[in-house]
Amino acid sequence: MLVTGGAGFIGANFVHYTTRHHPEYEVVVLDALTYAGDRTTLAPVQDQVRFVHGDICDAGVVDGIVAESDVIVHFAAESHVDNSLHDPEPFIRSNIIGTFTLLEALRRHGGRFHHISTDEVFGDLPLDSADQFAEDTPYDPSSPYSASKASSDMLVRAWARSFGVQATLSNCANNYGSYQHVEKFIPRQITNVLTGQRPKLYGEGVNVREWTHVDDHNAAVHAILSRGRLGETYLIGSGDERSNKQILELILELMGEAPDAYDHVPDRPGHDLRYSNNTTKLRTELGWAPVYGDFKAGLAATIDWYRANEWWWKPQKEATEAKYQVLGR
Ligand code: NAD
Ligand code: DAU
Repeated sequence: MLVTGGAGFIGANFVHYTTRHHPEYEVVVLDALTYAGDRTTLAPVQDQVRFVHGDICDAGVVDGIVAESDVIVHFAAESHVDNSLHDPEPFIRSNIIGTFTLLEALRRHGGRFHHISTDEVFGDLPLDSADQFAEDTPYDPSSPYSASKASSDMLVRAWARSFGVQATLSNCANNYGSYQHVEKFIPRQITNVLTGQRPKLYGEGVNVREWTHVDDHNAAVHAILSRGRLGETYLIGSGDERSNKQILELILELMGEAPDAYDHVPDRPGHDLRYSNNTTKLRTELGWAPVYGDFKAGLAATIDWYRANEWWWKPQKEATEAKYQVLGR
């Protein structure tokens, strides 16, 4: 099994999950080790995994490694919306050209491909409604990040239909858990508190996200790999929707801080209001259900992980906050 982006947040957790629950796979990780990739995240499984330092846009590297693989799970991407608003170019390159490069190798060599994508391809939903995204919701991305992921999804569908590439796709809601980069909302606020800085809430904090534990996401990916229908898309999400303000207040409560011990900062341009995935297809067809039903307990465990693993995130913290200074957020 080839895992692209296996030194990033979800990819590395997927590798850990796979070595624990699916020892039948021989895992090879292909990762460019961008600012978001960290080889130490794979240290606990280094004896069970082969690591290749390489770029998914490098056709030579990709061709050789796809030729050796039966299953390819494609996580590698530029993943942070704020970065895409500052400099879209790496998103176009890695997310679109990188996916194209993998698909061309698959066209030559065959293989079972699973493409990891996001609910952000659908745009957003009104705040006060019961509306949800479904597998057939038209694409309407808002940011360079989501537009690049939408493009990559389109490429996968086209290569499946026209060239017979054996692909499935999934679009997941927001993930949380250990090893998430400190640029993302939940780890940024936890590590702000741990380093004596005030947490930062964009605008009024009314925007809603559907928080899903990373292991629930990865269990769904394995369900799709083993039982999913080729050519199909599956939405993944916990059903647990909360506003950013509610999340931040919960982090402050769990960390013993006052509920108003944070700053409002200027809002993200084009900020999507709300995401919500209808996961009926995944649940009924493949029998998946989230295991991490208690978000407060999952968040508390995540806070404990960041407390205990300062060695992992501290080297990234200062540079990340310096980037935010430039963005004014
Ligand atoms: P991340 O930024 O933490 O990790 C991305 C990894 O990809 C890093 O290890 C990086 O080095 C690697 N990478 C980037 N460009 C590369 C390239 N050109 N060649 C090889 N490796 C490269 O991202 P994440 O949050 O783990 O997201 C992983 C995937 O899941 C992405 O495709 C993202 O769109 C998708 N996704 C993320 C979420 C979320 O909440 N984080 C939710 C749904 C879907
Ligand atoms: O929905 C899936 C997507 O979730 C993935 O495709 C992306 O890769 C992933 O980064 C995530 O995107 P978001 O933009 O939703 O996540 P982020 O952690 O950047 O922000 C979550 C919410 O919190 C969002 O509404 C913006 C807000 N926010 C973020 C930061 C970093 C703040 O209020 N303050 C902050 O400091």
